[in-house]
Amino acid sequence: MAEQRKVGEILLTEEEIRVKVTELADKINADYKGGNLLVIGILKGCFVFVSDLVRKLQGDIQVQFMQISSYGDGTVSSGKIKIKKDLDVDIAGKNVLIAEDIIDSGNTLSQLVSILQERNPKSIKVCTLLSKPSRRQVAFEADYTGFEIPDEFIVGYGLDCGESFRQLPYIAVIED
Ligand code: IMP
Ligand code: MG
Repeated sequence: MAEQRKVGEILLTEEEIRVKVTELADKINADYKGGNLLVIGILKGCFVFVSDLVRKLQGDIQVQFMQISSYGDGTVSSGKIKIKKDLDVDIAGKNVLIAEDIIDSGNTLSQLVSILQERNPKSIKVCTLLSKPSRRQVAFEADYTGFEIPDEFIVGYGLDCGESFRQLPYIAVIED
């Protein structure tokens, strides 16, 4: 329960995140060269990251959101994903960049990329702020990864524990 959890050690400061988001945006800008890009944020955890990232992107940028849930509960996501909120645009022929807060088991993104591929985008890439490589259940690597972090449950900068702590400007470990 969130009310029993306390925010512990700060893993990534506001400044470290700011520098990294700028680096990610620089790479994306270099790759797409100011062309058209449809950024798809994966709710809810992405909302702070997407808002910071897109303000550093150049070109004709559009922003859409999807919400995905996985069957399974708590801090362990497993199994088949379910689209809770789908796109309201056609992505056929478009350059798509999925923006995710964190890749953990890899289940969500590996399945989501397959689903979106069937809609015939021109290209599809994934940008994640955070990744926990040691937790993968399926092999999945993003095209752009901000930070690789150890297997600890973290909150802040959009990420929650029981819907709390999303507003923190830094990323911190949660403690019992
Ligand atoms: P997965 O890669 O399919 O396991 O799912 C990743 C999702 O699990 C993320 O989008 C988050 O919503 C959630 N998640 C994984 N690790 C954490 C964490 O440490 N803090 C908060 N949410 C997490
Ligand atoms: Mg998420």
